[in-house]
Amino acid sequence: RGEQMDYEFIRVARDQAVGIITLHRPEVLNALNLKLVDELVEALENMDRDDSVRTIVLTGNEKAFAAGADIDEMADETAISMLLKDQFTVWDRIATINKPIIAAVSGYVLGGGCELMMNCDIVIASETTKIGQPEINLGVMPGAGGTQRLTKMVGKVKAMEMLLTGSPISAEEALRYGLVNKVVPVEMYLQEAVTLAKKIAAKPPLAVRLIKKSVLKAIDNPLSEGLAYERNCFYLLFASEDQTEGMRAFVEKRKPKFTGR
Ligand code: CAA
Repeated sequence: RGEQMDYEFIRVARDQAVGIITLHRPEVLNALNLKLVDELVEALENMDRDDSVRTIVLTGNEKAFAAGADIDEMADETAISMLLKDQFTVWDRIATINKPIIAAVSGYVLGGGCELMMNCDIVIASETTKIGQPEINLGVMPGAGGTQRLTKMVGKVKAMEMLLTGSPISAEEALRYGLVNKVVPVEMYLQEAVTLAKKIAAKPPLAVRLIKKSVLKAIDNPLSEGLAYERNCFYLLFASEDQTEGMRAFVEKRKPKFTGR
């Protein structure tokens, strides 16, 4: 594909209505350097704008989803150079993507890799997945949301343990703590994620979009605000053709044909 040539550290592909982004720096376990993250955000935003893409799968390789931010790139930084570079601000754009992002992870999911995974909406993990925030072992701490999102996802005491020891947890443990949706054999994790992405891709896109936004609202707003937001979204969907079609099809006992309008 022509657009592929523009990216150095990621690969983009399509499988029907599913856009697939693969992190591709295998020689360094997909360490997230600045250019990779810029490319990833650009590819996500392109897919978000493309009406023919309905859901996005984000993956790495069997050995590593990503082993964290690129340590070589940061080793000689100073507080002021980090402040001026402000490298984590671009990450905020990942949270604004409207389409569901399904992470297909395997192997190392560490540091920035874990933070990236936690920015995704659904996670399929291979049995060999190891998830952790090892920044403490480098004399630092997570900087792309790790202390905040991990705590909200696994609760205080588990987050403390993971962040203060830096030791990764297994896929099974991650499943128990609600960090991943499903654990499958390593041969299957990507296919499983794509199958799930296709299932969601067949749903009415406006409902998909507003459900994603409403769930994200629940994370950083009081319940009353989230409920008000949800109600407005619910009412708004009655302006869509897909609501008319979906309910009519149910009454007429046939399959609905959704158009995204
Ligand atoms: N940055 C840069 N290079 C990395 C890297 C990283 N985060 N992780 C791995 N690599 C490189 C290694 O330097 C090595 O390169 P060379 O072949 O040129 O030596 C290559 O990837 C393969 O790695 P290893 O030889 O170390 O492989 P291993 O199987 O022995 O160990 C590992 C794997 C346990 C994941 C180990 O590589 C490791 O501990 N990596 C660092 C993990 C880490 O600390 N991540 C947090 C980064 S900080 C951060 O993410 C901040 C934030 O909040 C955003």
